[in-house]
Amino acid sequence: MKALVYRRYGPPDVLNVEDVEKPVPKGDEVLVQVHAASINAADRVLLRGKPFIIRLGMGLSKPKHSILGFDVAGHVEAVGPHVQAFRKGDEVFGASRFGGFAEFACVSEQTLVSKPANVSFEQAAATPTAAYTALQAIGKKGGLRPGERVLVEGASGGVGTFAVQLAKAFGAEVTAVCSTRNAEIARSIGADHVIDCNREDFTRSHRLYDLILGVNAYRPISDYARALESNGTYVMSGGGGTQILQAMFHRFWLPKTGDKTLSNIMARAKKADLLVLKGLLEAGKIKPVIERTCSLSDVPDAIRRLENDHARGKTVITI
Ligand SMILES: NC(=O)c1ccc[n+]([C@@H]2O[C@H](COP(=O)([O-])OP(=O)(O)OC[C@H]3O[C@@H](n4cnc5c(N)ncnc54)[C@H](OP(=O)(O)O)[C@@H]3O)[C@@H](O)[C@H]2O)c1
Repeated sequence: MKALVYRRYGPPDVLNVEDVEKPVPKGDEVLVQVHAASINAADRVLLRGKPFIIRLGMGLSKPKHSILGFDVAGHVEAVGPHVQAFRKGDEVFGASRFGGFAEFACVSEQTLVSKPANVSFEQAAATPTAAYTALQAIGKKGGLRPGERVLVEGASGGVGTFAVQLAKAFGAEVTAVCSTRNAEIARSIGADHVIDCNREDFTRSHRLYDLILGVNAYRPISDYARALESNGTYVMSGGGGTQILQAMFHRFWLPKTGDKTLSNIMARAKKADLLVLKGLLEAGKIKPVIERTCSLSDVPDAIRRLENDHARGKTVITI
């Protein structure tokens, strides 16, 4: 099969389309013929092997997994001996552990669900990682309740576009923070208010929020705390090491922030969350924002663009 392979960490140039052996599903794995996959921020991190600390788990001198790609949608080609829920020919989408940028990928039955008929393979592939991260950040971690005021900073990228739509679907009043060029996208996905981060600093206004999601947190954590209602919650999904350390530090330093909760999230693919997302896709309550689609061989260019420009929704690979 064809796959986009990298054998050393580096810039997008180290990615090449090669002929490799088709994987064989073991245990609870499902072999998916991939029709579409999508690029996540984590693929860019794993490609470069930076920050260096990730190499402790992913391979010190070279990557342990030579094919990137978590999110896939396609047809079931074959199933492992313990698979109960799927059979050959089913249309599915979900999150693989690696290997999605290929014609075939093995995905655990636990992180795969059937694709709703009303969404394309491209839309389905755009959903898993970004959407379950947003769902876990505002749901389990953020404890969002209907009627609450939510602010999503970084609202126009993969996680942000889902966070805005999910918060609206859960009955919140949503403020989206993004750059000038992305304000229209934020409005089009249902944000009640849009703050242009190039013109206004939401942490300096007097508006307070019950929940703030820092998709790409880059300010001191005290700035986010200032914009929270008492009892409010701040969750960061991405950002620099300093913010992650601050969030961890604050977890053990609650008196400093009174009754506010400041935390970061380590999202994980879970079947229950994928089923919630499937239901919301089916009901038309969330609609993936796809910035562009490309072929496997165009992925290096697409990643270069994502590194130089801020993302607008998702970039999807059609295979
Ligand atoms: N913790 C977890 O488990 C988890 C899971 C998934 C993703 N993440 C992390 O969450 C973050 C967002 O992921 P994503 O998929 O939404 O990324 P993305 O699609 O690249 O979107 C990032 C958005 O953040 C905004 N932004 C603000 N400052 C930025 C900066 N300095 N560089 C780039 N973008 C900036 C951009 O919008 P504007 O141009 O409009 O400002 C952009 O649209 C990433 O850091 C990713 O690693 C974490």
